[in-house]
Amino acid sequence: DLPPRVRIHEVGPRDGLQNEKEVVPTGVKAEFIHRLADAGLTTVEATSFVHPKWVPQLADAEELFPRLGDIEGVALPVLVPNERGLDRAIALGARRVAVFGSATETFAARNLNRTVDESLAMFEPVVARAKADRIHVRGYLSMCFGDPWEGKVPVHQVVRVARRLMDLGCDELSLGDTIGVATPGHVLSLLAELNEEGVPTSAIGVHFHDTYGQALANTLAALQHGVTTVDASAGGLGGCPYAKSATGNLATEDLVWMLHGLGIETGVDLGRLTATSVWLAGRLGRPSPSRTVRALAGT
Ligand code: HMG
Ligand code: MG
Repeated sequence: DLPPRVRIHEVGPRDGLQNEKEVVPTGVKAEFIHRLADAGLTTVEATSFVHPKWVPQLADAEELFPRLGDIEGVALPVLVPNERGLDRAIALGARRVAVFGSATETFAARNLNRTVDESLAMFEPVVARAKADRIHVRGYLSMCFGDPWEGKVPVHQVVRVARRLMDLGCDELSLGDTIGVATPGHVLSLLAELNEEGVPTSAIGVHFHDTYGQALANTLAALQHGVTTVDASAGGLGGCPYAKSATGNLATEDLVWMLHGLGIETGVDLGRLTATSVWLAGRLGRPSPSRTVRALAGT
């Protein structure tokens, strides 16, 4: 059985733009986010409050976030790795934050300069303080299927870190296939193991990158398992600066095309969304890699 409605967690402005070689001007980012909201996306991950030297592409978070204002009916989550990030986000009135852990030691070291345990210790006060302030917390978990340095990641290893993120108090978990190597059977075994460890499907979102063209197949498997939160990036922008071979995220347009074809509601106006990705592609100076964008825009 498929769900009647899916909530799309749009990550283009964050996961997409963090990976652009050229820093995108703050005004373009703000317009991008407003256009995504106008296209009907209700969760738009806006930016990250990380160290500006680690991700210079998002170093303008203090300028960008206040420009967005309150967009009626739209949540604007932001990434915060530590208390310093949380302080910056709270100072600007953020109401939704995300910590981001790793299932593997190599990626934890490269992305957070910490071991897995040290990074969980870093997140602990972040989640506790956010919860005390009634701020919604998402827990990302990267390298849930494969890691470019460590190879295939065992399901039990992923479940252990996932369980600990939930025990810290995260409201939801997003399973990251950071380098896009997952296949549907692997997705289903991870979801089943998580359920067995007491993580309910209702708390799980999926975050696929499309390196091997499996993102939609993986999404369909997750939907059949009961998942109703799916991360995607407008136009298929994205990657990860600290994960070699991470290519674009699942394109939001490709996802919406499939969901609407299945009769699943998203609230997204595909025409407006495609126009937004075509507009941004013009700003970035290269065409969108999304096949749906190309088909609909005739490019
Ligand atoms: P560190 O160098 O270990 O930091 O980096 P530190 O704790 O030792 O602090 C060093 C200095 O940085 C201090 O300043 C801090 O104040 C400052 P000093 O006292 O020396 O003057 N500092 C900060 N400044 C601003 N904002 C902050 C902050 N924190 C410390 N938040 C750190 C550790 C976590 C900060 C660093 O590794 C970092 O910023 N990493 C971010 C990496 C990142 O954003 N990666 C991309 C997102 S993850 C992703 O894309 C995957 C995902 O999409 C899911 C998937 O696909 O799998 C989510
Ligand atoms: Mg990602």
